[in-house]
Amino acid sequence: MIHCEGLVKIYKAADLEVFALQGLDLRVEAGELMAIIGNSGSGKSTLLNMLGGLDRPTAGSLTVDGKNMLKMSETDLVRYKRESVGFVWQNNARNLIPYLTALENVELPILLQGRRKRLRALELLEAVGLTHRKNSKLHMLSGGEQQRVAIAIALANHPKLLLADEPTGSVDSKMADQILDLFRELNRTIGITIVIVTHDPHLARKVDRVVAIRDGKISSEMLRRKSYAEELAELEQGIAVSEEEDTHVEYAILDKAGRLQVPAAYLESIGIKDTNKVKVELADGKIVLTSPE
Ligand SMILES: Nc1ncnc2c1ncn2[C@@H]1O[C@H](COP(=O)(O)OP(=O)(O)O)[C@@H](O)[C@H]1O
Ligand SMILES: [Mg+2]
Repeated sequence: MIHCEGLVKIYKAADLEVFALQGLDLRVEAGELMAIIGNSGSGKSTLLNMLGGLDRPTAGSLTVDGKNMLKMSETDLVRYKRESVGFVWQNNARNLIPYLTALENVELPILLQGRRKRLRALELLEAVGLTHRKNSKLHMLSGGEQQRVAIAIALANHPKLLLADEPTGSVDSKMADQILDLFRELNRTIGITIVIVTHDPHLARKVDRVVAIRDGKISSEMLRRKSYAEELAELEQGIAVSEEEDTHVEYAILDKAGRLQVPAAYLESIGIKDTNKVKVELADGKIVLTSPE
């Protein structure tokens, strides 16, 4: 679904240049549910905006659903945004209208007319578990319910890809869990590819694949030892799952040129500091890094 190689985004403001993405590589398979984590300013939203066609990359290559995002015409880009991709933001107020009901809010962006529109909106509200609230005015709904309306809208035109930027940023942790459960349910039932950007490690723990981004580049990738679905099934069978247990295995990322980012703490622990050199040796089928002295 997503294939991105050496992706670069430079923002030019006055005579200042900000390198928001610095050669980022990422592949996401169709039907995946994955998360991207990283500190504020690491380039998460920039990446999501490129994926959603809201902004264009400066260099590198990016194809989403087989479409070249660097070469796409303006007309195709408009169509792409309308038909192929759905967005969910942290601050849902920007796409919802407070004095309309949940149902009316969902009907608005649907590209259909009359009765079919109503039916599609009802179907979407059901998919996000809000049928019982369909006639409530939006401002009467809780934060979590409003976020569900926003998710229903994001799904309105049958997108293949759902992009969520800090979707749980303004709700409590119980609500965050419910929203993540909803994403998982939608991923399973309609097979939609979902990319969630978050700085919440708790949320990331529940996703099978988490990619960490640092300074506009992928720094590491965490894969779940056991899929979250398996773990939930075990919970249902009464098999205890320890909260403390390490849920993910972390991998460093090796780029095409053989460059590797070694965690700073590892380097420090072998006494590599104030130098840009490290001894690399092959020993017993392992690559060993040591301090140059
Ligand atoms: N429109 C913009 N113009 C200039 N700089 C920007 C713009 N958007 C983001 N940036 C800068 O790019 C970097 C990455 O930002 P962003 O992608 O929003 O990070 P994140 O979502 O991880 O917090 C930051 O240094 C930010 O200040
Ligand atoms: Mg952001």
